[in-house]
Amino acid sequence: MSEGVESAIQASLEEADSALLEQRSLELRGSLTDTGADADDRAVEAALRPRTLDEVIGQERVREQLSLVLEAARSRARTADHVLLSGPPGLGKTTLAMIIAAEMSAPLRLTSGPAITHAGDLAAILSGLNEGDVLFVDEIHRMSRPAEEMLYLAMEDFRVDVIIGKGPGATSIPLEIPPFTLVGATTRAGLLPGPLRDRFGFTAHLEFYEPAELDLIVQRSAGLLEVSSDAEGTAEIASRSRGTPRIANRLLRRVRDYAQVRADGVVNLDIARRALDLFEVDESGLDRLDRAVLDALCRRFGGGPVGLSTLAVAVGEERETVEEVAEPFLVRRGLLARTPRGRVATAAAWAHLGLPVPAAAPFSDDGTLFSE
Ligand SMILES: Nc1ncnc2c1ncn2[C@@H]1O[C@H](COP(=O)(O)OP(=O)(O)O)[C@@H](O)[C@H]1O
Ligand SMILES: [Mg+2]
Repeated sequence: MSEGVESAIQASLEEADSALLEQRSLELRGSLTDTGADADDRAVEAALRPRTLDEVIGQERVREQLSLVLEAARSRARTADHVLLSGPPGLGKTTLAMIIAAEMSAPLRLTSGPAITHAGDLAAILSGLNEGDVLFVDEIHRMSRPAEEMLYLAMEDFRVDVIIGKGPGATSIPLEIPPFTLVGATTRAGLLPGPLRDRFGFTAHLEFYEPAELDLIVQRSAGLLEVSSDAEGTAEIASRSRGTPRIANRLLRRVRDYAQVRADGVVNLDIARRALDLFEVDESGLDRLDRAVLDALCRRFGGGPVGLSTLAVAVGEERETVEEVAEPFLVRRGLLARTPRGRVATAAAWAHLGLPVPAAAPFSDDGTLFSE
């Protein structure tokens, strides 16, 4: 490889790293039930992540599918097929990517869609791979279009065309890439262009966890963090964790703090309730933002329909935060419906706020129209 190509690749790599850092710091948000990982989460998450498929709790189907795919690849002594992990934040996509690499005894290279702003960023990463490496691209739906196109080719033919220079003088240099396994993670599988989706040999859809599974996760984390807890204490944390292990682990740490400062350090039902009330996470797992959204929707807009932007202004939040952080859970709990005319409160939302359900409320709990 010529020095020019090498230094271009190096420069893109450095740029990709700093874009990733910038993206990460943008993701730092304050809420306890935010599904994104903050700096504090990342520090402990490394310690709490299951390291093998056997250690993973729940997700039975995905676990069985993955173990089959990986075992088949191992028995053929081939690199595993490309894997797409899709599902809401905090359910274990990054964890599974690390496990795939570990189970294949392969090094893991990490990057993310937002860090790949130019095709050159991706070329730099791909050309640095060794045979059998696992390349994890988090938030793969946020990659730039030219990079996506380069990725199709790399996934299928293990080849990229690197463009050197600009304008009429630009030349394209084909580069062979050793066979690798791409693991993509996305919260929005629907946003992936068909050609990219089709090149994954296997797509795993992660589901929200059942309370009993979350309870096991909380118990396991309590063990690893050396927190003493009883069955009712961990069950209470699990039931307020909105089906999400990342939130369960975070709530556990706040309840542990409370137990240590205000009590004897043991996480029991009473301590869990008092701590979670203090941090404004209610029995259903709704936090301050969720309640603010419902409150604005019902009290200020009479239950809707109201546009997302208006709703976001009313609660003093970014549109994206309301849409991506609060709404998915509210929709899943049947408290809010997204309709073509705007956001609407369901009868359950009024009830949750302790307000009488207005006779004219046009939506039932599942978000379908009563009339129309
Ligand atoms: N199935 C599981 N069993 C135990 N812990 C889990 C499981 N899934 C996720 N976790 C925990 O939840 C946290 C978030 O998982 P992560 O893989 O980072 O989610 P994602 O990448 O989907 O946002 C990790 O610290 C991990 O310990
Ligand atoms: Mg992740």
